[in-house]
Amino acid sequence: MHKVIFDTDPGVDDAMALLFLHHHPEIDLIGITSVFGNATIETTTRNALFLKREWQIDAPVAKGAGETFIPHRVTHAPPTFIHGDDGLGNIGVPEVTDVEPDPRPAHRFIVDMVRAHPGEVTLVAVGRMTNLANALKEDPEIVSLVREVVIMGGAFDTNGNVTPAAEANIHGDPEAADIVMTATWPVVVVGLDVTLKTVMTRQALADIRDAAGKRAQLLFDLSQFYIKFYEGRVQDGMVVHDSCACVYVVAPELFTTRSGPVRVVCGGIADGQTIQKPDGKGFGPSDWDGDLPSQKVCVDVDADAVLKLIHDTIVAIKED
Ligand code: RIB
Ligand code: CA
Repeated sequence: MHKVIFDTDPGVDDAMALLFLHHHPEIDLIGITSVFGNATIETTTRNALFLKREWQIDAPVAKGAGETFIPHRVTHAPPTFIHGDDGLGNIGVPEVTDVEPDPRPAHRFIVDMVRAHPGEVTLVAVGRMTNLANALKEDPEIVSLVREVVIMGGAFDTNGNVTPAAEANIHGDPEAADIVMTATWPVVVVGLDVTLKTVMTRQALADIRDAAGKRAQLLFDLSQFYIKFYEGRVQDGMVVHDSCACVYVVAPELFTTRSGPVRVVCGGIADGQTIQKPDGKGFGPSDWDGDLPSQKVCVDVDADAVLKLIHDTIVAIKED
């Protein structure tokens, strides 16, 4: 069983990932922490509370960062053209007043849960890395208490999706991401190199809806705006970025990884670019020498198997 804290900026693909975690029998979802990104922190937190209520998820929601690790850093605006003004595909998400968030800020919640379950908690982070960096700042000792950190973010042997150099979750807070990648906890990076290969077709999403009932109807509805964004970009469907990171937790054998230290470019034309120094590859003397921890970067994926696992997991629990 994997105890998971899901750090998220819902977000359409975040919503599918949350439903996957909620349904998977080997996942014990112990918390949801919100972060700004696909929308403001008020909106992503509201969306997390909304999905918790609609999908009857027990895990508490703790509100996280609404600004970058370094305050007032310049960053890109919420991508309303991808996730809608409400962050969930313009379905008209209602205000949620009957579900209270956890009283703690997300970084404190993460520290408390990791300390309560030493060696057991996997952090799955699919938004900007700000909450994780804030948690490390508050309590650096958690690096030895976390089981694994699995992040959706970055682009290594391919272009970014915000700039030619950078992927959104990293570009949104590069300093935070660099802190997370260079901390001495085990990190697995599930970036665009594999997520862009993992495209769920409209029909496959409709099949999930037809087989899984009411919960999946909401997922289907909120995904339509996002699918529209992908028209002309992928073949008839949508990229399920965040679900890939969640699938890695329970089925790492579906991914090919490469080991080596990872750094994030902070500033300039390549702001937010992720670079790995592959283990065993020789380079001249540089700032890359020294004690940087070796992390895992996903470089290939069995996309069909990932999509099948998402389907099978969500349809396994039918609710009308
Ligand atoms: O680049 C894709 C990532 O950015 C996904 O996590 C998406 O939800 C957005 O946060
Ligand atoms: Ca996300």
